Amino acid sequence: MSAGGARGRSAGMKRTSSGAAVRAAVARWKAKGEQVAFVPTMGAIHAGHLSLVQRAGGRGAGPATRRRPRPPGRIVASIFVNPLQFGPSEDYRRYPRPARRDRVLLARAGVDLLWEPRVADLYPPGYGTRVQVEGLSSRLEGAARPGHFDGVATVVAKLLNVVQPDVLWLGQKDAQQALLIEAMCRDLDVPVRVRRGATVRERDGLACSSRNAYLDPEERAQATALARGLAAARRALRAGERSAARIRGAIRQVWRAYPRIREDYVAVVDARTLEAPRTLARGLRVLVAVAARVGRARLIDNFEWQVR
Ligand code: PAJ
Repeated sequence: MSAGGARGRSAGMKRTSSGAAVRAAVARWKAKGEQVAFVPTMGAIHAGHLSLVQRAGGRGAGPATRRRPRPPGRIVASIFVNPLQFGPSEDYRRYPRPARRDRVLLARAGVDLLWEPRVADLYPPGYGTRVQVEGLSSRLEGAARPGHFDGVATVVAKLLNVVQPDVLWLGQKDAQQALLIEAMCRDLDVPVRVRRGATVRERDGLACSSRNAYLDPEERAQATALARGLAAARRALRAGERSAARIRGAIRQVWRAYPRIREDYVAVVDARTLEAPRTLARGLRVLVAVAARVGRARLIDNFEWQVR
């Protein structure tokens, strides 16, 4: 049950650390014909997470109509800072964990059940299994963070096996992660529909991220370079640019005005395979993805574009 032993409740939201309790609750809802949507997170809840909860609840995608009534549904969210997806020199220890605030935000957003497993619940002594999605896991973020996506695939497989939702909600902000989890669910016959929610941004375009908390005011100002670079790439594509190298150049050109931005990668790839296309031919769905360090923070952003 929740920290302290008793099952917690806030504005109708139940919370538990027990996978068995999650399974039982979901089974009850499903037996009543309710659809169960699942939003996994690492906490430090922000507007991006909350938008996924809203989509999971059928909001933010236009109103329900008489012809298209909203099916009764339940929302399960999880908070688990997954040690398996952090490299040895990464920020696992200092990753923000504002548990109380997170619970209030998720309860207010309409989460029915919050699952907060402990590390020993998911990885008890003797735990040894890893899930690896070949190919996709070694590109872009995977190249920069060896082992990261094995950790992501493993924990998401475990979370899905416990929750067994009808729908899994993931953010476009982490496009490669979404692609990889979609592939894993296909490959392992996981009976779940995977849906993506659009990237939520701050007013100045910076994509919401738990890691934005690491930025001091000057770095925060510099961090807008990611979205500004992507906007330049989008303008180039719109204007008919079809050279991947020149689109990457447009992003780097913007970044030159931001001395605190240290590029990790700037990529223009096939959004389905993450491979570099020879040409941006008509019909191709392109993923323009960037990663950069700003001070102590490592930030990522992207957009997808259909070549016409
Ligand atoms: P976390 O970074 O907490 O993100 C949880 C979910 O929120 C992911 O699906 C992510 O893509 C989405 N998200 C993050 N920022 C967003 C934004 N600005 N707009 C829209 N969606 C956003 O991603 C993880 O946790 C973990 O890897 C996890 C999948 C939980 C596995 O540990």
